[in-house]
Amino acid sequence: MAKPKVFVTRIIRDAGLTLVNDFCDAEVWQGDLPPSREVMLEKVRGVDGLLCLLTDRIDGELLDAAGSQLKVVSNHAVGFDNVVVPDATARRIPVGNTPGILTDATADFTFALLMSAARRVPEAERYLRAGKWKTWGPSILLGADFVNKTLGLVGFGRIGRAVAKRAAGFDMRVIYYDRDSAPEHGATPVDSLDQLLRESDFVSLHTPLNDSTRHMVNADFLGKMKSNAILVNTSRGPVVDQDALYQALKSNQIFAAALDVTDPEPLPMDSPLLTLENCVIAPHIASASEKTRDDMARLAANNLIAGLKGERLPHCVNPDVYNPK
Ligand code: DGY
Repeated sequence: MAKPKVFVTRIIRDAGLTLVNDFCDAEVWQGDLPPSREVMLEKVRGVDGLLCLLTDRIDGELLDAAGSQLKVVSNHAVGFDNVVVPDATARRIPVGNTPGILTDATADFTFALLMSAARRVPEAERYLRAGKWKTWGPSILLGADFVNKTLGLVGFGRIGRAVAKRAAGFDMRVIYYDRDSAPEHGATPVDSLDQLLRESDFVSLHTPLNDSTRHMVNADFLGKMKSNAILVNTSRGPVVDQDALYQALKSNQIFAAALDVTDPEPLPMDSPLLTLENCVIAPHIASASEKTRDDMARLAANNLIAGLKGERLPHCVNPDVYNPK
């Protein structure tokens, strides 16, 4: 029997690619950069399944270009804001994602960023490499403390909770704003975002990107933060209004920011954020540990294969496709 035809939009880790190749007749995009929209529209034509990355926009036009035989879209990410899910649901196409397995890597990296910004690690390294290190000095490159400081988590899902667990080890007080999550790891819920911003020395974002969170961090939000506060974003770039952030950092309205995600990605090299010493920026690598990326590839492959077999995806973001109204 002929194997199902699939398009894989980038070379993923062998842990997943082997599964895909064993079960499918797979075309794997070999470029280091994502396929262009034009190429995507052409490559998906006639496929039974699509394994895509967060860099690929999946919408009605693309699903229609694939054709009515398309059975599944498997997104190699936990976030799925690159997929217009209602378009997939309207066509009864299940969309898979990769929750759970990148929680620890992302929480670890959130802490790495938080500490880098607080203790000015990238700035200190630039200082050293520029030959400015002349002696030990009592007031050189002073940063922020953690013990007894308040960490405010905006969103208390899996990753937020894993960050709270780490913060407990640093003797931090942890508060969170998320109406849907029960307390864990000693973290306390607050009634409003305003209260969280008023009380937090560190504010870390753990919300999905959607219409209500796009540019949630704007001038008003930043204006409510403490002047010593540090903002950390490992969620999605567009949650932050970068112009407002630039103004807040430039004027020292807040102490620093640390971003793993930007808007757009990659961040243009002429972004004003890159001129600031108090802004640490990483190229969207919070989940970039070997084991995590292997697990993501494996889960993305398993979602794809389940969809091709007509089985329920292990992780489906639009389960409505299984219970049509
Ligand atoms: C995800 O899976 O959504 C992450 O942003 C990738 O690191």
